[in-house]
Amino acid sequence: MRRKFVAGNWKMNTNRATAIELAKTVAAGAGTVGARVAVCPPAVYLEAVAAVLAGSRVELGGQNAYLTNAGAFTGENSPAMLKDIGCGLVILGHSERRQFFGETDESVSKKAKIALENGLEPIVCVGETLQERQAGKTFEVLRTQILGSLQSIDAPNLSRVVIAYEPVWAIGTGVNATPDQAQEAHAFLRGLIAEKYGLSLSQNLVILYGGSVKADNAATLFGQPDVDGGLVGGAALDGKGFLQIVAAGA
Ligand code: PGA
Repeated sequence: MRRKFVAGNWKMNTNRATAIELAKTVAAGAGTVGARVAVCPPAVYLEAVAAVLAGSRVELGGQNAYLTNAGAFTGENSPAMLKDIGCGLVILGHSERRQFFGETDESVSKKAKIALENGLEPIVCVGETLQERQAGKTFEVLRTQILGSLQSIDAPNLSRVVIAYEPVWAIGTGVNATPDQAQEAHAFLRGLIAEKYGLSLSQNLVILYGGSVKADNAATLFGQPDVDGGLVGGAALDGKGFLQIVAAGA
C-alpha cells in the first residue's frame, strides 16, 4: 500500500522570520500520524527551518541541488550540503527550473543520481504545458520527460524516487487539473514505469500531483487511485491551509 505524501514547495518566498513561523505552525499541527509531510523552504532558510522541525515528523527538502558534490560552481548548493544540514528530500526538474534555468531531462537525471548517492530522495517533476496539451501531445511529452529524467536511475534506486506530475498550466494559476485529468496522467506515468522497471516497482512508486492544490480540492484529487498526494506551492505558504491539505491525505 502506498502512503499518501504531501510536500510544500515554498519556492522563493518567505523571509527568515516568516519561514520559521510557518515551519512552527506546520510542525505543531502535523501531529504524530497521518500522511507523510515535508516542507521545502528556500535554501538560505533550510537550516533555520530544520531547527524548528527537529522532533516533529515533518521532513525537510531542498528545491534544487547541483549535479556534483563540491567544486567551483558559484551560486550552487550540492546534495551533500543539503544532506549535511538535515534535508532528506530534494525537488528536481520543477517546471520553473526547466523554464527559467535551463534544466533538461538529462541534467535532472544526473542530479537525481547524485542526490540518491547522498541519501536524498529526489522528487522528480514532469508535466506538459498548455500548448502541448492543446496540441494533443501530453502523453508524448510525459513519456520523454519521465524516461529522460530517470535515465540514470536503476531499478534498486527507483524505490527511493518520488515523481510529481505537475501540468505547467495548473501551476500558480488557480486552475487545477480535474481529478480525471490527474488520474489519467498518473496512470499513464505508472504504466511507463511498469514497462521499464517492472510492475512491482511501479505499484510502489509514489506519484504526487502538483498544480493549484488547495484545501478544497485536495481530497478529491488525492482520492484518485493513482494520485498519492500533492506537491503544493502557493497553498503551502499558509500553515493552517497546508495542514488541511495534509489532513486530506490521511
Ligand atoms: P501551486 O504550485 O500549488 O502554486 O500551483 C505547485 C508547484 O509548483 O509545485
